[in-house]
Amino acid sequence: MARQYFTHKGVLFPCLDYSPEKLSYVENQFQVQDDDVFNIAYPKSGTSWMLEILSLIRSDGDPGWVRSVVNWDRAPWVEYGPGLDAALKYPPPRLLCSHLPVQLFPKSLQRSKAKIIYTLRCPKDVLVSLYHFSKILRLFKEPGSLDSFLEDFLSGNVVYGSWFDHVSGWMGLKGNENFFSITYEDGCLPQDLQGSVRRICHFLGKELSEEQVAAVVENASFQSMKGNKMSNFSQLPDESMEHQKGEFLRKGICGDWRNHLLEAQNQRFDTVFRERMQGLGLTFPWD
Ligand code: PPS
Repeated sequence: MARQYFTHKGVLFPCLDYSPEKLSYVENQFQVQDDDVFNIAYPKSGTSWMLEILSLIRSDGDPGWVRSVVNWDRAPWVEYGPGLDAALKYPPPRLLCSHLPVQLFPKSLQRSKAKIIYTLRCPKDVLVSLYHFSKILRLFKEPGSLDSFLEDFLSGNVVYGSWFDHVSGWMGLKGNENFFSITYEDGCLPQDLQGSVRRICHFLGKELSEEQVAAVVENASFQSMKGNKMSNFSQLPDESMEHQKGEFLRKGICGDWRNHLLEAQNQRFDTVFRERMQGLGLTFPWD
């Protein structure tokens, strides 16, 4: 079952710990609650970083919670088998994660006041991060060459489907008062991260002092997360991750794609990006 996929409604999922039945349950029966906060992103876009920020905001900047409870228990992934079980037992108000594209997300969201925080990242950096991660996570197939993986990524032949569909789907909720979007790039400089944390607090209706905001920024930094075994995924069992081959918190920078993509690959990416994103009225910090 490891490194094998199935297709559900046109989207690829790993066989291990996912199933069509659970995905259908999540889409059709899972009850979103008004006080839920959802951390949503396409894979490798900064989901666990946002999870850390939201955990720290919830605990007023106090790092006690992020240092004592593993991140996937603080905010379970609803579509993933063990995550769904945890989400169903989570006492409200729930903090939940998901990588699902909008069309597979629980339908009950439409009738709720739950808050959605959607994080986007430069897709070339997503591609590179996913490429490296696919080599170490046993849920994912070996990615092959970067050239062939680039084509898989551009055509959506990767877990959770097309980046372009994911972003255009979720960004269709822009303007909805319960929807907040932010980019990975918004947090890459510490001073920008402070501003981002304040904007997230405002969206959540949470007031934090300057000191508490500074504590969120400090404890959600790449180095703090890397040194925290509750946040760096070192607790994942060897059956799930080949720890000796690489780390989840790999580089944590913007623009690493420049170290990996050849000019022809970059141009190919730009051509597809323009085709797929034109007319959507979206602007990005990496454009
Ligand atoms: S996953 O597996 O899909 O949930 O991955 P996700 O958490 O979305 O993304 C992983 C990438 O985010 C980087 N990361 C960070 N960057 C900067 N600062 C902080 N604090 C941080 N935390 C996680 C992580 O290193 C992955 O990116 P790469 O480029 O591979 O380093």
